[in-house]
Amino acid sequence: MLGDSAQINCCPKTMRVLDIIATKRDGKELSKSEIEFLIKGYVGGDIPDYQMAAFLMATYIRGMSRQETAALTMAMAKSGDQLDLSTIPGRKVDKHSTGGVGDKTTLVVGPLVAAAGVPVAKMSGRGLGHSGGTIDKLESIPGFRVELTETEFFSNLRQIGLVISGQTGNLAPADKKIYALRDVTATVASIPLIASSVMSKKIAAGADAIVLDVKCGSGAFMPDLKSAQLLAQAMVDIGTSVGRQTVAVVTNMDQPLGMAVGNALEVKEAILTLQNQGPEDLTILALTLGAHMLTLAGRTSSTEEGEQILRELLATGAAWNKFRELVIAQGGDVKTVEQLELLPQSQFKLPVLAPKDGYVAQVRADKIGRASMSLGAGREKKEDVIDLAVGIMVNHKVGDKVRQGDLLAEVHANDTARGRAAVTEVLEAYTIVSEPVISPALVYQVIE
Ligand code: URA
Repeated sequence: MLGDSAQINCCPKTMRVLDIIATKRDGKELSKSEIEFLIKGYVGGDIPDYQMAAFLMATYIRGMSRQETAALTMAMAKSGDQLDLSTIPGRKVDKHSTGGVGDKTTLVVGPLVAAAGVPVAKMSGRGLGHSGGTIDKLESIPGFRVELTETEFFSNLRQIGLVISGQTGNLAPADKKIYALRDVTATVASIPLIASSVMSKKIAAGADAIVLDVKCGSGAFMPDLKSAQLLAQAMVDIGTSVGRQTVAVVTNMDQPLGMAVGNALEVKEAILTLQNQGPEDLTILALTLGAHMLTLAGRTSSTEEGEQILRELLATGAAWNKFRELVIAQGGDVKTVEQLELLPQSQFKLPVLAPKDGYVAQVRADKIGRASMSLGAGREKKEDVIDLAVGIMVNHKVGDKVRQGDLLAEVHANDTARGRAAVTEVLEAYTIVSEPVISPALVYQVIE
């Protein structure tokens, strides 16, 4: 299905963007060199937004083959700097979540895996829309520096085996530019485009192996299991085809992860989890992802062995201690993570009460995420300033039995009018039924 691309392959100079768009529009397969031409031209400013937008829409509708998706990923990965982690001994394993509500897993998994002796070099992002970002959460810790120079990044990694920062250097600029265009052209929710976007950044960040947490449900990009499985498989295929061993864990994001949603609230919950007192779902997810990371790093020969090691590191306080080392290494005030009341606190706490007796059948993650955003915990636009103290504590989750008047959730607000509006939104996220409800599975599938 190469269409006109045979001619294009033999004579790169004759390539025209128009032909590339038309090939995709007609559902034909593009060659690697055509995809490279397109990405180079767009990053270099020779191809205008309107042509890239047409290409993205054609891709959204027609899809891409495995080969095309891999070629797009590598072209984007090579569009800027690529981090070379080869001077750090051992296999470097990265972890990435496709984004969800209350997802503070990186804050737990990073120190946990580093405490097991596997170096973790993590570049994370800020939150956009209703899903939060690790970098914003870490900024709840007074003094914590998320912007590190490359020298600091490597020095911390060598000294304590753990670094979590915003992006250093100019990694995958093609993805940055294309993602901004997708955001305003209704072309975000495309499996090849999401898969290449995520994997290009992971590959440019230098990982030898990658563990992906692919979220599925109302609070995720992929609302149903089938599309989450397809996205997970697409990313595993890309990783495999470019020599980076990749494992994808498809997990539930119908309800928020853990109880805390909001930046400082999530940091507190991550700390409690590292102290072995966290919610069960967050603890299990951290152990599951961490165990895959240890196996991919060659530290353990099975995930069962990995989970056992990680459980001990939680129980002995070694993982919590590694988090303290991280805070100190990145300039944070360690007192504030040792005495949690020193982290940002909201002025008001508004209760959300159960309107009737029954069983919780739903806590819609998307609605909780939007309620938290409307309190100021997230941003609509990149320039928005967020309120680190506000958010929601989800006290009752799916399967819980509740009585009328029980505290379903608590809204942490700095403005009473916004707080009251959030109480209504949180209540709308809950469905309470009269028949018992089985609490849902957290991990749906592992794709290796
Ligand atoms: N996260 C990304 O990095 N890219 C996407 O396209 C979607 C989620």
